[in-house]
Amino acid sequence: MEEIVLKDPLDMHLHLREGEMLKNIIEYTTSQFAGAVVMPNLTTPITTTELALQYGEEITSNSKHKTFKPFLTLYITDSINEEELKYAKNKGIKILKIYPKGATTNSENGLNEILTPHMLKICDIAENMGFILSIHGETNGFSMDREYQFGKIFAKLAQDFPKLKIVIEHMSDHRSIELLETYPNIYATLTLHHITMTLDDMLGGALNAHRFCKPILKTPKDRDMLLNLALNAHPKVSFGSDSAPHLEKNKLKDSAAAGIFSSPMILCALATLFEKHNKLENLQAFISNNAKKIYNINDLQPKEIRLCKKHSWVPTQIKLIQNNIIPFNAGALLEWTQVI
Ligand code: NCD
Ligand code: ZN
Repeated sequence: MEEIVLKDPLDMHLHLREGEMLKNIIEYTTSQFAGAVVMPNLTTPITTTELALQYGEEITSNSKHKTFKPFLTLYITDSINEEELKYAKNKGIKILKIYPKGATTNSENGLNEILTPHMLKICDIAENMGFILSIHGETNGFSMDREYQFGKIFAKLAQDFPKLKIVIEHMSDHRSIELLETYPNIYATLTLHHITMTLDDMLGGALNAHRFCKPILKTPKDRDMLLNLALNAHPKVSFGSDSAPHLEKNKLKDSAAAGIFSSPMILCALATLFEKHNKLENLQAFISNNAKKIYNINDLQPKEIRLCKKHSWVPTQIKLIQNNIIPFNAGALLEWTQVI
């Protein structure tokens, strides 16, 4: 049977949550990936190195796959200072995450304004210390234009701090691609949902809250241009699922939670997508090699994932004690199966 081997898959944008949720979902990632960038927007956001280290322990103690490497991130608030950055750096944290206040789930402690004198100073320090700056780049404007409007801030930061690597997280708008092409220090992560779906997949027929996420899904042109970047494994993009589970009841209530839970079977889903477009040979770069170069990752325990050409299905639901989580493309048929 036809097989492919994926070396050291990396998910460069992941929400592992905490507590019971984490315990129930972590294996979906650790069974497929050698490592992942874990986002800091917990109910108590990870705004200090101490909290990040505690979270790292919660992750490793709850995973059966002991070689899995979580890349911890620090949630930037207005009270961040040089001393904390130094401490974070000493403890091996490489990534700082900026959320504009109110832009997404648990972003209430985020920044009201990005380009303040204090934040510019922090960016200067981050540049000198070699941090990577990951940004949820959305304004509070019209939802289809939020990422585009934020582009000015990306451009200003990229110009002022040319040695600071800046990542446009979950790039969703084709107009952001120009930033990648213009500024040598701007990079991006791409999700499976933004490269395969449009707004119509969420609300063109009956409303599907499980496909509601931030940034919102966009137009066919956005989807196709971003898919093209992924299929060609553009060297400035890496895969970041933005898998962001919420309980079904919180997805289905009024003021539904934003976030798509995509980690189950995601490598098989990506292989199915890349094969459909005759680009399987680029999957390795998209799910690992590009990220290793961009984030200077050279300390992974090697992991080989084998996929064979056999049908598999995305689970229809994940049962927690009190409620379920519904995965992205629940029940979908995939062309590949992970060999365990
Ligand atoms: C994420 C979440 O639920 O934490 N939600 C989302 O819609 N993507 C946060 C984020 O990455 O914006
Ligand atoms: Zn996210």
